Amino acid sequence: MRAAAFTDLIGPDGVSVIDRPTPEPEPGEAVVDVEACSINRHDLWILEGDSAMVDAADLPFVTGLDVAGVVSDVGEGVSDVAPGDRVLLCPNETCGTCRFCREGPENLCEQFSLYHGGLAEAARVRADRLVPLPDGVPTTDAAALPTAYVTAFRMLQRADVGPGDRVFVPGATGGVGVAAIQLCDVLGARTVGTSSSASKLERVRELGLDRGIRSTDTDEIRERVEEEGKVDAVVNHLGGEFTGLGQSVLRRGGTMVICGRTAGGESTIKVADLFLRHKRVVGSTMGTQNDLRRLVDLVAAGDLSPVVDETYPLDETGAAFEAMQERESVGKLVITP
Ligand SMILES: NC(=O)c1ccc[n+]([C@@H]2O[C@H](COP(=O)([O-])OP(=O)(O)OC[C@H]3O[C@@H](n4cnc5c(N)ncnc54)[C@H](OP(=O)(O)O)[C@@H]3O)[C@@H](O)[C@H]2O)c1
Ligand SMILES: [Zn+2]
Repeated sequence: MRAAAFTDLIGPDGVSVIDRPTPEPEPGEAVVDVEACSINRHDLWILEGDSAMVDAADLPFVTGLDVAGVVSDVGEGVSDVAPGDRVLLCPNETCGTCRFCREGPENLCEQFSLYHGGLAEAARVRADRLVPLPDGVPTTDAAALPTAYVTAFRMLQRADVGPGDRVFVPGATGGVGVAAIQLCDVLGARTVGTSSSASKLERVRELGLDRGIRSTDTDEIRERVEEEGKVDAVVNHLGGEFTGLGQSVLRRGGTMVICGRTAGGESTIKVADLFLRHKRVVGSTMGTQNDLRRLVDLVAAGDLSPVVDETYPLDETGAAFEAMQERESVGKLVITP
């Protein structure tokens, strides 16, 4: 089978299509013919050599977390899925025995890690991590959900976002950003978001963003967000200077949830403002398999349409990473092996 592998950690030019043996399922596993697999900033970090997880000794490395496709084979002891089933992978890898695996939520697992290997014609996965896909949910749409949408969904839960709340989403045009905007819409919350691009912001407005601010200047953004008052919650996937910005526009008792570091791995917190105004800053990673099931249900019911900017065949995977690096896209980029 063919796989799009990282053969050099130099950015998009480091992706090559290689041949690999077609995987055989071990007990408890299934092999999925991959119809669609979305890419995430997480994969781009690896490709740029900016991830502690993968180094030169691990090459060639096949990434790809968000696998959707059709089961082609199952291993011993697998009864929940069968060849021919349309499925979506929850990429969580957990130990199954720690206190968080026993009591939940499973994404806090002490050994938490992620599946990699979906940028290929076939993927060998744990069968109990497969979520069935109803007929009305195309695999291309489904592949958008497991990382970006689940992460945004969990972040909104952590911030107790509800109807009428106002949520600030700096960087509202990417995977997590667009997911947060759409899910706020589902929850009846209002949104204010930013982008460096007027045209991308316009597209996100069409997807439900209530107020767009085209700026990268944190002072200007602060002023413009506060024209309508402080916000109830901040979905912060950028880190860096956007953490200070998020804290300053947060209302008394509000919550900022952080899941990423695109704009910088270190941020400054104003300590007195934090305790005097009872603000909360919490970290969050991914979500649970049940979160993913709920999102699939929302898509099946027609309440959520994942935003896929473009699809690419396997041998154009490098071009997809280039589009992400160049900040050209709105929503998700999906590879269709
Ligand atoms: N912890 C977790 O479980 C988890 C899960 C998913 C994602 N993440 C993290 O969340 C972040 C977003 O991931 P993603 O896959 O949604 O990425 P993405 O699609 O590439 O995000 C693009 C968004 O980020 C903005 N952006 C890009 N570079 C920027 C910069 N230097 N300064 C300010 N804004 C910038 C873009 O703004 P423009 O509109 O101006 O181009 C756009 O809105 C990443 O840091 C990722 O690692 C974490
Ligand atoms: Zn565990």
